[in-house]
Amino acid sequence: MTAARGKATIKETTPGWDCLPFEERARAELSQYDRVVFGSSLRAGSIRKLSWLKKQLPGLSSKRVAVFFTGAMGPDEKAIAQCVEKNFTRAELSQVQPFYLWGGMNYGSMAGLDKWMMSVFRKMLASKKNPTQEDKLAASFDKADRKYLAPLEEYLTR
Ligand SMILES: Cc1cc2nc3c(=O)[nH]c(=O)nc-3n(C[C@H](O)[C@H](O)[C@H](O)COP(=O)(O)O)c2cc1C
Repeated sequence: MTAARGKATIKETTPGWDCLPFEERARAELSQYDRVVFGSSLRAGSIRKLSWLKKQLPGLSSKRVAVFFTGAMGPDEKAIAQCVEKNFTRAELSQVQPFYLWGGMNYGSMAGLDKWMMSVFRKMLASKKNPTQEDKLAASFDKADRKYLAPLEEYLTR
């Protein structure tokens, strides 16, 4: 289950797995699977649409459940741990294994609220006197790499 976009790509890279875009979640029959993966991305530190998965958790107690989420932040262990702590309770983490996948930032594909929020953020960055590492966010970049999927693949196939 993925939160929108990239349907074809996901299908190509996950042979043997049934993938459903988030918009089609109503027809997901999760009870027929023993492994369930929910994929999403970060917005201001929160994993989009995660509340939907959380509502399904009582029915998934006998299954292996993973969440992957993409973002612009580098794969820094401490930052990822903070993000996980913000998005999941301890009880949820006993049932769900989270995985961060370093993605990037694509201003070209942004629209609506995302575009507006990032324009405000970029203005803030531009006005900074001493730019830091974070200022890289002012331009598009792509760090997506199949190698970041290895821990998730290992978890699902072990
Ligand atoms: C408004 C906005 C807020 C974002 N907030 C974060 C964030 O808090 N942490 C992060 O690592 N990436 C953040 N990102 C980057 C996205 O999570 C990243 O580009 C992601 O791969 C986008 O995937 P999607 O287009 O499938 O949602 C943000 C992007 C936007 C547009």
